[in-house]
Amino acid sequence: MRLDRFLAETTELTRSQAKKALAQGEVTLDGEVVKQSARQVDESAHISWRGEPLALVGLRYVMLHKPTGVECSARRGLYPRAVDLVDLPKAERLQPVGRLDVDTSGLLLLTDDGQWAHRVTAPRRRCPKTYRARLARPLDGEALMAAVEAFREGILLEGEATPTRPAELASLGPHEARLTIHEGRYHQVRRMFAAIGNHVEALHRESIGELTLDADLAPGAWRELAVEEIAAF
Ligand code: URA
Repeated sequence: MRLDRFLAETTELTRSQAKKALAQGEVTLDGEVVKQSARQVDESAHISWRGEPLALVGLRYVMLHKPTGVECSARRGLYPRAVDLVDLPKAERLQPVGRLDVDTSGLLLLTDDGQWAHRVTAPRRRCPKTYRARLARPLDGEALMAAVEAFREGILLEGEATPTRPAELASLGPHEARLTIHEGRYHQVRRMFAAIGNHVEALHRESIGELTLDADLAPGAWRELAVEEIAAF
């Protein structure tokens, strides 16, 4: 890759700032000052800027315990962004893999590998996502059996033309349920419970596919995925 691009990839410099830094003799390649922006370099080259050695960051795969009150959006808005909780170089390049609502906590994956993100979220793969929901109204007895059946059959959400894909509902107590869905429609879990006359007071994502939120991660904490976790998708 070009040297100015390498600098922009590995520092906070923009491409034009990188060109300036090069012109000012701030960059060394294998110990020699180099000023040509277009100079081709490979990953094994020893490049420093102002004496600091630089390294390409590569692709990153992160598991975050998203707290409530944090949004998945890439743009800065009303709430802190999930990506700002991840203390990695160039963290702003990470994209949430699917979304969680501001009010939802739990497992959020972030990556700068677009192809991997697509493998996780592609609708045809029907990757299961499991949520724990706290319900405003009790769901037990016959109402529970009816809800299990309705979610298994698929229900028509307000304003939608096709029913939800079969989903698995299990009771964890009168006000607590676990739901696994195989798609990712807007506010899907909240809307599914609304469709059966209930209301989700709190929602937490426990897992995506084989990957379960690490119990050691407190809300707001994150870790990089292990190689086999990345390969699981
Ligand atoms: N379904 C919802 O309603 N909200 C989420 O954050 C995720 C799934």
